[in-house]
Amino acid sequence: MPSTPEPRLTRRGLLTGGAAVTAAGALAACAAERPAPAEPAATVAPVAAATSVEPFHGPHQAGVATDPQAHAVFLGLDLRPGTDRDAVVRLMRLLTDDARRLTAGRPALADMEAELAARPARLTVTFGFGPGLFTAVDAGHLRPRSVADLPSFSIDKLQKRWSGGDLLVQICADDALTVAHALRVITKDARAFTTVRWTQRGFRRSAHTQAAGTTQRNLMGQLDGTVNPRPGSPEFDKAVWAADGPQWLRGGTTLVLRRIRMELETWDAADRTAREFTIGRRLGDGAPLTGQAEHDEPDFDRLTPAGLPVISEYAHIRRAHVQDPAIRILRRPYNYDEGVTAEGRSDSGLLFASYQADIAGQYLPVQRNLAEADLLNEWTTPIGSAVFAIPPGCGPAGWVGETLLG
Ligand code: HEM
Repeated sequence: MPSTPEPRLTRRGLLTGGAAVTAAGALAACAAERPAPAEPAATVAPVAAATSVEPFHGPHQAGVATDPQAHAVFLGLDLRPGTDRDAVVRLMRLLTDDARRLTAGRPALADMEAELAARPARLTVTFGFGPGLFTAVDAGHLRPRSVADLPSFSIDKLQKRWSGGDLLVQICADDALTVAHALRVITKDARAFTTVRWTQRGFRRSAHTQAAGTTQRNLMGQLDGTVNPRPGSPEFDKAVWAADGPQWLRGGTTLVLRRIRMELETWDAADRTAREFTIGRRLGDGAPLTGQAEHDEPDFDRLTPAGLPVISEYAHIRRAHVQDPAIRILRRPYNYDEGVTAEGRSDSGLLFASYQADIAGQYLPVQRNLAEADLLNEWTTPIGSAVFAIPPGCGPAGWVGETLLG
């Protein structure tokens, strides 16, 4: 794994050297290496789940193959005008340092709420590069061709405030306070170089409320994630990690993040039979309409006595199905729920996060099939869309992005 020798890192050194010096830079003086301070005895008793750590270093960034944590925030940043290659290098070294410490349960440099770092709760921090970053660092020729705005689809009602972005920071943990703290540290340290374009918060079932490996439910009540590449399998590695294309991305992947609103008020009008017909699976156990258990293979050829397909031609699982497991997408979605609007309508849906080695060969064919005819389109509306290259991971002396920028 490529790495450059890392000089002793101080926050001041990372922020300066051409980029604006923020008032926060002055805090570097108190930024000596330190563990998270102990909490008062009454609040301690840290359960294993709270101190559980996901390894930060490795050939791949954590947060993709990682068993999804309960809470997530996706942060979309834009580079400030004039932020050049040198500045992006400083930014990525600084943010990598933050991520390395926080994911290990240690405070970041100049962390003003150091106690909050003590419970990483499987924290992962994953970085991604949007199309604009490649232009800013003069590396347009190294941008994977499909890391670009997706073509527009007839079902889209995209809003600018949920779309695009030069730099992605995906923060996931089993504890919402841990996520909020990491988000604050990262946004503070990125402020001299970037502006915030959007933040999108998502959640799944709380940790330990169901057996490990149980498929999550989305806000439509469906088991969501049944057919997905399994981490550790050769199919997963082939489907998710980039092995072709630009050398710098090898071991990385790409992310398509779609914010998809659920029209829950009209969904209320659909009865159970209609809901199951729409997906092609049963609500209770997630079994295909032709099977008995969640992981039974759907029989797309089975007909009803009237000669019609049991799983409709327009059912979501038929339209989205890909035969070859090695070219499936990895779905790692989070529910979002922003409460109820003044008109009494729920503002909720899915942060649909799809990781794949190649967007053009894997994501786009499925998305086209769905946009063309999917019963689910009646109750779902894509309102945000962003695409990122997710660089490979780094070693203890390295930083995320060094294969492109180092
Ligand atoms: C709010 C929007 C969506 C909802 C509620 C939803 C829900 C579901 C559900 C319940 C399943 C069946 C269980 C499973 O295998 O996970 C499923 C399967 C699937 N969905 Fe979606 N989905 C949505 C959007 C999308 C999008 C945008 C894509 C890709 C562009 C997609 C791709 C897939 C794939 C590949 C499968 C597995 C199909 C197979 O059986 O081979 N879904 N989805």
